[in-house]
Amino acid sequence: MIYQLVYASTARKVMSEEALFELLNKARENNEKLQITGFLVYHSAVFLQYLEGPETAVKTLFDKICQDTRHSACTILLESSSDQRIAEQWSMAYKKIDEIKPELMQKLVEITAAYQDKQDMSDRDKIMDLLRRFRLQL
Ligand SMILES: Cc1cc2nc3c(=O)[nH]c(=O)nc-3n(C[C@H](O)[C@H](O)[C@H](O)COP(=O)(O)O)c2cc1C
Repeated sequence: MIYQLVYASTARKVMSEEALFELLNKARENNEKLQITGFLVYHSAVFLQYLEGPETAVKTLFDKICQDTRHSACTILLESSSDQRIAEQWSMAYKKIDEIKPELMQKLVEITAAYQDKQDMSDRDKIMDLLRRFRLQL
């Protein structure tokens, strides 16, 4: 079984493209070795990241990511497991937010807004639906 984790966090300062790509290069290098795949969305200083892979590896990586001073307030939105990966081709995909289709963008805004408002984010189906749609655009 593949363990799946989605979390949101807040960037401590605005991330430049360059800083984001530096982060992604390191993430891709590490994730490949750990058999972790996923994707990262960055919008209005909010990170939304999806990680999937062996449970211990994902949990250990998540603990490490949470210690990273580039962001704070890591909040798990979803933990689940599946027999199939959603992001099998990507050690860590990243999409510029302005390249994302409007209807998906709408969903993303809803989720990040709900996160910022600290609403109940336990709606698993909504998040999984978002992830699947996001995947189709990568
Ligand atoms: C929003 C965010 C997402 C990150 N995602 C990953 C990731 O998927 N994989 C990873 O190895 N590091 C990720 N990092 C970086 C880690 O926090 C850490 O800096 C990095 O893993 C250190 O790698 P090293 O031990 O090889 O130097 C992320 C950091 C932030 C702020």
